[in-house]
Amino acid sequence: MHPDYLLDVAYTSHFYETLNPWLINYVCAINGYPARDLAEGFDYCELGCGNGLSLNILAAANSKGRFRGVDFNPAHVKNARLTMTEGGLSNVTFLEENFAHLSHLDLPDFDFITLHGVFSWISPEMRNAIASFIGRKLKPGGMAMVSYNTPQGWAIIAPMRDFLRSFIDDRPGDLLEKAKQGLDDLRFLRDSGAAFFKINPLASTMLDSYLQLDLRYIVHEFLTPHWEPLNFSEVLGTMGRAGVEFAGSIPVALNYGQISIPPELHDYFQKIPSRLAFQMRKDLVNMTLFRSDVYCKAKRDPKIAYLDRLRGMIFGTALRAKDFKFKFDLPTGSSINMEGPLFERLAARIGASAITLDVLLTDPELVQDTPEGIVSAVEWLVATDQLKPYARPSPNADDAREKPFRLSEFNRALLLRELPRRKSVPLASWTAGSGIAVGRKDGLALLAISEAGPQGAEAWAGLWTVRNPGGVDDGGSALPLSEIIQKAASDPDYCAALGLDGPPDETT
Ligand SMILES: C[S@@+](CC[C@H](N)C(=O)[O-])C[C@H]1O[C@@H](n2cnc3c(N)ncnc32)[C@H](O)[C@@H]1O
Repeated sequence: MHPDYLLDVAYTSHFYETLNPWLINYVCAINGYPARDLAEGFDYCELGCGNGLSLNILAAANSKGRFRGVDFNPAHVKNARLTMTEGGLSNVTFLEENFAHLSHLDLPDFDFITLHGVFSWISPEMRNAIASFIGRKLKPGGMAMVSYNTPQGWAIIAPMRDFLRSFIDDRPGDLLEKAKQGLDDLRFLRDSGAAFFKINPLASTMLDSYLQLDLRYIVHEFLTPHWEPLNFSEVLGTMGRAGVEFAGSIPVALNYGQISIPPELHDYFQKIPSRLAFQMRKDLVNMTLFRSDVYCKAKRDPKIAYLDRLRGMIFGTALRAKDFKFKFDLPTGSSINMEGPLFERLAARIGASAITLDVLLTDPELVQDTPEGIVSAVEWLVATDQLKPYARPSPNADDAREKPFRLSEFNRALLLRELPRRKSVPLASWTAGSGIAVGRKDGLALLAISEAGPQGAEAWAGLWTVRNPGGVDDGGSALPLSEIIQKAASDPDYCAALGLDGPPDETT
């Protein structure tokens, strides 16, 4: 095994929303950092990009962005380049390099440097190498996103990692077999009454979830040479040496004490003076397992008015207006009640198409609401993951109706390759500037309409189903495929708003 990280088994491929530059920018903005104008392009670097699915999707969704991915696993870089080539992308480059050599690479300065699922799985020296890279290569005002395991959640389940790791040395077989043997042994011991599981029901629940997971994930989560849950304070110190400030966290809800902290502790938390103490206490109270934190190379200015922080931003969603929810009960014991005409009007307006905040503020349907009220309602809808900061407004609905629906080259290639393998496929949306997950049946419907037009779509999809045994029945929607195709074909506005074709100014 390579001393820095395992290379023997290629990792799984998923899209991670925490890497979305528009979301990272939004998290900075709601926390008092100056939002950046990303419309004219930006430089983005992902360290430890794995098979590169997320980075390719972001590149496809942001044609004016320039993307670099770094990973030292040759199999990962090969897979990443294959997705790039199949999808016809020219704005992303994958570098097969060790983080130890970051300082020798000829790279531009970046607006974003991100790393997902890397920081807890590498050595302290490597974390320092990354911090000095961020310190040197992040532009003023640039943003970094770093995710990592945290000890508050891992303390009582970490012995399972030590147990699995002990299988590496004293058993024959490859890492996948060893991971399987280790999990089987853990299950046997749990079912035979091991005290560790008896007094620790969370460990038992976690073990059940690990038994369902892809073994490649288990290998990369638990069998790496380095594995260290990190306190927020430690990462804050490392990132502080890179000259960046903690801005906030993803998911967005974590930035609001009202919903991320149990109600009985609101008063206690309100009196905590420092952001460090606040986060450390929050992780203890919530037994946090994993954090995705956003850092910014700028000074926080809490005085910027909310309205000004979000001005110029665009908000959209893949939800239809009828699918919005206005009441939530949260795991912290808090609840959110967003019932009322303003929220319904916003769902009706943005559920149909992504829109800039400035246009929204002058919408005739919303004239009776104050700008502050509208912005606060938008924030709540983002915090409940129903609206997202978007890259571009939806295309004009009349144009969408005139134009036959055609998936972008990237999305077409990804669907053709991934539909037989996945229940849900992440696609690149140029309106979202990010990925959007599409259930297998919906994906097949969109692909069929794109390939054969609304009239020929059903026959095309039928043929696909015959050629791909296993079918599409477990792919999301309960509706029959024919109905999904009819629904999509009769709602070109919705299909266009998803932004899965090519941006109107860049396609013919
Ligand atoms: C757990 S995986 C996460 C991959 C990807 N970010 C994701 O979430 O799917 C960690 C990744 O970091 C890469 N990595 C670890 N140490 C590295 C190093 N020293 N130099 C370059 N890449 C490294 C691994 O090859 C692997 O792809």
